[in-house]
Amino acid sequence: MKLRNKSIVITPEIYGYIVEHGHNLDPLIAELIEETQRTTDRASLQTPPEQATLMGMLARAIGAREAIEVGTFTGLSALCVARALPANGHLLCLDISAEWTAMARRYWDRAGVGHKITLRLGPALDSLRALPPVERFDSAYIDADKGNYRTYYEEVLMRTRTNGLILFDNVLWHGEVANPRIRDPEVLALRDLNDALAADRRVEVVMLPMDDGLTIVRKK
Ligand SMILES: C[S@@+](CC[C@H](N)C(=O)[O-])C[C@H]1O[C@@H](n2cnc3c(N)ncnc32)[C@H](O)[C@@H]1O
Repeated sequence: MKLRNKSIVITPEIYGYIVEHGHNLDPLIAELIEETQRTTDRASLQTPPEQATLMGMLARAIGAREAIEVGTFTGLSALCVARALPANGHLLCLDISAEWTAMARRYWDRAGVGHKITLRLGPALDSLRALPPVERFDSAYIDADKGNYRTYYEEVLMRTRTNGLILFDNVLWHGEVANPRIRDPEVLALRDLNDALAADRRVEVVMLPMDDGLTIVRKK
């Protein structure tokens, strides 16, 4: 299909503008970003605040009560989603790093949402497969090792209710998915996922050129 490209190139100046205007500014989130940048050497892993804000907005808009996140790092996306859940809502976070998620817990507690979050440490695939195969999640975010995205998707999809949303981060991988000369394992895994989602009749799919590429699927 040929379409005229109406997207703009996001220069550093435009991205700076989005960071200042593209979401509600929040001092606690600003502090979490600052501490992540100052104390870890992997700050680029952090979900950008405007994307995390969108995730919280979507969770609130669909009235999500049960949510899951695969890949938590220092807890920014989980913080935004947990804030959007009702008082009896619950977010299950899966990660392998005790060190990074210790920071996450501190910020969740400061935000008053720590009681809504269960953090399970260990390989996410093991944690997912240990969950009962029942449709319980309203919202899910997949943001861990790219090679497992397809498998995470199937494990999460079978546990997501109809009209629940599953979000995938990094689906454009710095734009490299569209360059056939690049055949890194992450790029191959993400291309494989993107091909599969576009053809998957079980879900409605939209890929957004937000940050590193965000795909949202709705389970039919
Ligand atoms: C991109 S970061 C997540 C960013 C996070 N969503 C945020 O809001 O900042 C990816 C995370 O996935 C975790 N991870 C990588 N491989 C994993 C695995 N096999 N099982 C569970 N977590 C994993 C890493 O420890 C890291 O914290």
